[in-house]
Amino acid sequence: MLDHKLLEQFTKVAAQAAYSSSLLKGKGDKIAADQAAVDSMRSYLNKIDMNGKIVIGEGEMDEAPMLFIGEKLGTGNGEPLDIAVDPLDGTTLTAKNLPDAISVIAVAEKGNLLQAPDTYMEKIAIGPDYPENIIDLDNSIETNLNNMAEFKSIKPSDLTVCLLERDRHKKIVESITKMSAKIKFISDGDVLGAIYTCIKDFNVDLYVGIGGAPEGVLAAAAIKCFGGQFQGRLSITDNEEKLRATKLGITDLKKKYYLNDIVRGDVIFCAGGVTDGELLKGIRIEKNNFLADLLVLHSDKKIIKVYTEKFEI
Ligand code: FBP
Repeated sequence: MLDHKLLEQFTKVAAQAAYSSSLLKGKGDKIAADQAAVDSMRSYLNKIDMNGKIVIGEGEMDEAPMLFIGEKLGTGNGEPLDIAVDPLDGTTLTAKNLPDAISVIAVAEKGNLLQAPDTYMEKIAIGPDYPENIIDLDNSIETNLNNMAEFKSIKPSDLTVCLLERDRHKKIVESITKMSAKIKFISDGDVLGAIYTCIKDFNVDLYVGIGGAPEGVLAAAAIKCFGGQFQGRLSITDNEEKLRATKLGITDLKKKYYLNDIVRGDVIFCAGGVTDGELLKGIRIEKNNFLADLLVLHSDKKIIKVYTEKFEI
């Protein structure tokens, strides 16, 4: 099991990154907002006593970003850990001051998180309390919705599906509409989109569609803590993406990843709200402090917390 004190330390990392990027919300510069979150995350991660390694980060070593895949972080004294980060999920949301931008981090013991390339991923997710594999990436959307409706003894038209509003989802949208099921579109930020399935108040039954693979790994980490289900498959469209995947040791580019292939063992997940959202409000500044809304999850300890914490600026 992961040391419990890591929970507090990683929560602080997420909160500080959210604060740094929030200073740029509504200022039209998504790159600067992302960079602020990256700089903050890196600096706070380096203060933690651990032998951390980025497995999901801002890109590959030869592109020389900070928080590149393979980058070593921490003081070097402590457990070997795999770290997945999305310092700012919702760069455009932040630049435009739209809801639901978050700073996200997940941590597991060494070797326990999938090293996914920076490509797209087909994803499907549901919350807890369903029979194993009631949904499947290889089923049609109709079959998945019918199975879920049958299990819940409701009509498929009573179900709500969340997905990114993108042209590539036109066919899925047509199928959902044909079944008279409801759609909750999100413009960005599909880590939260998948998490909605696990929180009853959101009334989202299913998350589907193609989004970032790194975001898929982070969503899977959160869903594991809630006891939900997630499947993903890389969506590789050209040779450059193929190379990205093979460089990370992935040989079967069409592999369907189940949750346990993506996240093994114990995992901690922390997200801090950057802009005001449905689950997490954005950062609020009060004199010399800031208030951060946080979603904090720890799978082995069965911790699921949404709360507000005050930090000194
Ligand atoms: P950024 O914060 O990096 O802009 O990503 C936001 C996001 O919406 C992710 O949550 C999602 O997985 C991905 O972009 C979808 O990619 P695209 O915008 O290319 O469809």
